[in-house]
This record gives sequence, structure tokens and C-alpha cells, in this order.
Amino acid sequence: MKLAEMTWPEVEAYLRESPGIILPTGSTEQHGPIGLIGTDAICAQAMAERAAEAAGAIVAPVQALTPAQFNLAFPGTISLRARTFTALVYDVLASLAGQGFTRIYILNGHGANLAPIRAAIHDATQDLDAAFAVRLRSWWDYPETDALRRSLYGEWEGMHATPSEVAITQALVRAVTGAEAPPEALSADYLKAHAGDLHGDAADHRRRFPDGRVGSHSALASPEQGRALLDTAVREAAADYEAFLKEA
Ligand code: NI
Repeated sequence: MKLAEMTWPEVEAYLRESPGIILPTGSTEQHGPIGLIGTDAICAQAMAERAAEAAGAIVAPVQALTPAQFNLAFPGTISLRARTFTALVYDVLASLAGQGFTRIYILNGHGANLAPIRAAIHDATQDLDAAFAVRLRSWWDYPETDALRRSLYGEWEGMHATPSEVAITQALVRAVTGAEAPPEALSADYLKAHAGDLHGDAADHRRRFPDGRVGSHSALASPEQGRALLDTAVREAAADYEAFLKEA
């Protein structure tokens, strides 16, 4: 059930049965020459809505404005400062926990969200009177989804504008053609050093990665692969959410 399409008495009745809610988080940033600006939000929202449907859970509106500072030199990117996003997530947690949503499942689609979300969880856990638990998962970390994307794309999955996320948006929205040539291949050391979207200054980032792809060969994507990735991630997200609810 989508929170935005429910009435408050319906939410109150739900809370008598379940303390759980799924909160998708994405981004609004360039995703290379053939990836959509809303890729991370589109992926996380679709997965969260379908997993919620499967698990009988409420899904909150997607949080699509998040930190993406390193992509600001590409038009269309909108970035929150990390502290703004941390404050926003804190307020969302405080709102929900205060009403009895004491099992909050964050389904994430953007690496740079992880550190600010963890900071918000840390502070909210310290400050708030309500006892609540938060589980934070990025969809590409679900084991079967991760294995599938690696089997489909290997090293060309890369870091940004990944063929897996582009494939999912092709299944959900539309496919853009182009960028047939592979991007610069990145070393394992580079990938490790920049995990969690730890990139530098926006102008430097565009100079270093002129078309926006960071080691990802987006053009390997197809809508059929996107449907398979989406189905796998939804199944794993629903199962993980249900396991989270069962934990004390
Ligand atoms: Ni992305």
C-alpha cells in the first residue's frame, strides 16, 4: 500500500497489525549519456512498491533529492548537502517512530546516501524516546541480485550508470540508445577507494569522466535483463523485510 494513497484511519488500522514501513531512497543526478536522471529513484521506488505489495507493507514516498555533489557539473543533477539529507532522514525517522512505525526498512538505490542515512539513524537512536529499529539495504547488495548483475555484466557493471540500473529503468520507463563504446576500465583499487560514491570536486569529476559513466558500460543493458533484475531484487527485498519484522 502506498502511504500517499491511504487515509489516516487506514494507517492507524494498519499500525494495529504491523509496525513496519518501507522507505525507498534514490537520487536525481546524471547517469551517463543513455541513463535517466532519476535512475536511482526509479529503481528504488519500483522495488519498494512491489516488495511492499508482496509483503502487505506500507511504502512511503521515494526520497529522490539526496547528495550528489560530484555530479553537479552535469545539468539536471540536484544535490542536497550531506547534512541536509541527514537532517531530512532524521525528521522522517522521528515522524514515523513517534507514530508507532518501529520497524523502518530503507531500500536504497544510491551509494552516496549510505553515510548520511547511517548518521541520521545514529542520532535518532540516541535522541528519540521511541524504541525503533531501522534496516538499511542497497538493492545491489541482495545476494541473488548481486550474483545476477555480476553474471550479466562482470567488470563492466562498474560504479556509476551501471548496466544493471539502466536495464531496470529500460524495463520500467524507456530505453535510450547510444554510448556503444565501452568507458575507461577502472582498476580494482580505484573501485575500492571510491566505494560509496566518494568522488571529489564536481568540475574535476566531469573532466575525469566526461560522459558521466564511471567504469560502467551502460549500453550492455536490455529491458529483459532489467525485468529479471527487478523481479529478483523485489523477491529478496520482500523476504528481507519480512525477516526484519520477525526479529525482536
Ligand atoms: Ni545510480
